[in-house]
Amino acid sequence: MNFERKHIISTKDFSRDEIDFILDRAARLEPYARKGMTVLNGRIVATLFYEPSTRTRLSFDTAVKRLGGTTIGFDSATSSSTVKGETLADTIRIIDSYADAIILRHPREGAARMASEISKVPVINAGDGAGHHPTQTLLDLYTMRKECKKPISDLNVAIVGDLKYGRTVHSLAYALSLYGAKLSFVSPEQLKMPASIINYLKRKGLSITETSSMQDVMASADVLYMTRIQKERFPDPAEYQKVAGTYRITPESLASIDGDTIVMHPLPRVDEIAPEVDATKHARYFQQSFYGVPVRMAVLSLVMGVDI
Ligand code: NCD
Repeated sequence: MNFERKHIISTKDFSRDEIDFILDRAARLEPYARKGMTVLNGRIVATLFYEPSTRTRLSFDTAVKRLGGTTIGFDSATSSSTVKGETLADTIRIIDSYADAIILRHPREGAARMASEISKVPVINAGDGAGHHPTQTLLDLYTMRKECKKPISDLNVAIVGDLKYGRTVHSLAYALSLYGAKLSFVSPEQLKMPASIINYLKRKGLSITETSSMQDVMASADVLYMTRIQKERFPDPAEYQKVAGTYRITPESLASIDGDTIVMHPLPRVDEIAPEVDATKHARYFQQSFYGVPVRMAVLSLVMGVDI
């Protein structure tokens, strides 16, 4: 399988074999996520973040450096020429002559796709508005593969929270459909999974449940995938207030779930997982965020054509 010079924009662009291939490489690279290697010696990766980020930006940065490469970039639009009126298209045209790959996070849906049509080097979408976040999904699948007792195809995955604006869950739903996992979507009525995605999953013949009650799905879930209500994407702050704090899990609310059920979250959390859950056997979200490093090492080494 050859990913050299490929853009990574949406999980919808991938086959199951391609995803498994990336995850296998991540597994081989995991020991090097701490001890490092030199395969990207002399290579430069640009991280262009027009939206806040902690994990995604720093784990990409770590991944490049653990592979032996270096990074350039900015972590907010205000520290780039955007404030002078430069367009994203112009910025990409400049940066692709400096760097060997571009990692882009942007508030506008479709920004990464547009950048990939211009860029001469691979573009990796690190989140485009409420659109997609494919590398998050790859590390989510890697976590399920490592931390669940069943194969992904047999899992019952409950995805809880903001399914309308949450890009991580859009990407995850597409990818899980390739494995035929059972999906339960739990959200307030106003924040349901977009109809286009539901229709896509139904066309694929997937078993889907939609509900607003987390209680309905807790007992049967192998994975409880919690998400933050995406405050910054609400056009009206009053609408956010109506749904803020809708779902919250605590050690007590987890008391009745299966012992093997794991709790995941792309992070950052707001109040949807009580800190006391961290010490329970179900919590996997910190492990999940660590897996971002080997998974991103795999993606970077593949698109930059490095044999490992
Ligand atoms: C997510 C994102 O940016 O979409 N964070 C992340 O990359 N781990 C989730 C979120 O912000 O809620």
